[in-house]
Amino acid sequence: MSIIDVKELKAYYSTEKYGRIYRVRAVDGVSFQVHKNEIFGIAGESGCGKSTLLKAVSGLIKPPLEIMEGEVVYNFDDIRLDILSLKEDKQRRKVRGVRISHVPQGSMSVLNPVRRIKKSFHDIVDAHLKIEDRTLFDDMVKKHLDALGLDWSVMHAFPHQLSGGMRQRITIALATILKPDIIFADEPTTALDVVVQRGVVQLIKKIKKEQQNTLIMVTHDLAIHANLCDRLAIMYAGKIVEEADVDIMFNQPKHPYTLMLLKSLPKLGDKSNRVSAPGAPPSLIHVPSGCRFHPRCPEAMERCRKENPELIEAGKGHRVACFLEEGSK
Ligand SMILES: Nc1ncnc2c1ncn2[C@@H]1O[C@H](COP(=O)(O)OP(=O)(O)OP(=O)(O)O)[C@@H](O)[C@H]1O
Ligand code: SF4
Ligand SMILES: [Mg+2]
Repeated sequence: MSIIDVKELKAYYSTEKYGRIYRVRAVDGVSFQVHKNEIFGIAGESGCGKSTLLKAVSGLIKPPLEIMEGEVVYNFDDIRLDILSLKEDKQRRKVRGVRISHVPQGSMSVLNPVRRIKKSFHDIVDAHLKIEDRTLFDDMVKKHLDALGLDWSVMHAFPHQLSGGMRQRITIALATILKPDIIFADEPTTALDVVVQRGVVQLIKKIKKEQQNTLIMVTHDLAIHANLCDRLAIMYAGKIVEEADVDIMFNQPKHPYTLMLLKSLPKLGDKSNRVSAPGAPPSLIHVPSGCRFHPRCPEAMERCRKENPELIEAGKGHRVACFLEEGSK
């Protein structure tokens, strides 16, 4: 059963340059489903539209971002919500924090530098629940921190007194205090060193086990996806180009772009130099015709310059947007 159903979503930024309006086609016709209780990963190079997709799917839409087309539906046990049709921010805000929560990229900024951590917890809880009794509030937060293996003493600290890893844990604790059904996490481990990253991944796994929520995880770091996710979507220039179970994605990838990304990963014991993916991602203002990957694709054919490949089934739960896949059928 899918808890999130995204159909033909298009989300563009309008930017002005030299007096002309340009559209940045950051999410350009994306459809996917997320199953209840799974960890669904979204990967791809910088600028391919991962954060924008997460914002659009979680209903965080502010100018210059605009939804051009498409549908995002949440199927909760008790209610079906079409998030994009909810009346502006007030109604969406009611859903956010309680039913869904968003851990934004660069989430250190979520914590107010001049307020103690406890205040941030107050703000979140007060915005959604009416807990007049502060002892009840303290109990609730204490229980949550205990479950996550965090010490109550952090509540009295200012953000700058904590390490980057601890601040990130606190941000995740804040995003999950109200036990949301869905958590959207954008690069929660980026900018942390590898050991600290491991701790944050463990924390996310712990929360998921404890609260039984569904998690959408965005990171460009494929090793984190391999470690954490059940299924993975690869984005290229505003589109999903491949989607599969994580095992299948890493062992039997099909899209030439996925192959390129995986080739650039270091392998244990392999001393040869790793090449980073050759070429650069295209502008999302002037996107290439046909298959957007064709200027970088070693397999590009004549038709790839003219026609856009749709995502098609390449196996159970495996979808690929490449004409080579059509030929193999
Ligand atoms: N506020 C904005 N106004 C105009 N264009 C924007 C804005 N925010 C992002 N973009 C553009 O939209 C495209 C997608 O950006 P997005 O942040 O979604 O990518 P990303 O995949 O999350 O990248 P990263 O891995 O660097 O976080 C990029 O071309 C980016 O320059
Ligand atoms: S459709 Fe063509 S250009 Fe695009 S990935 Fe497949 S072979 Fe390469
Ligand atoms: Mg991003």
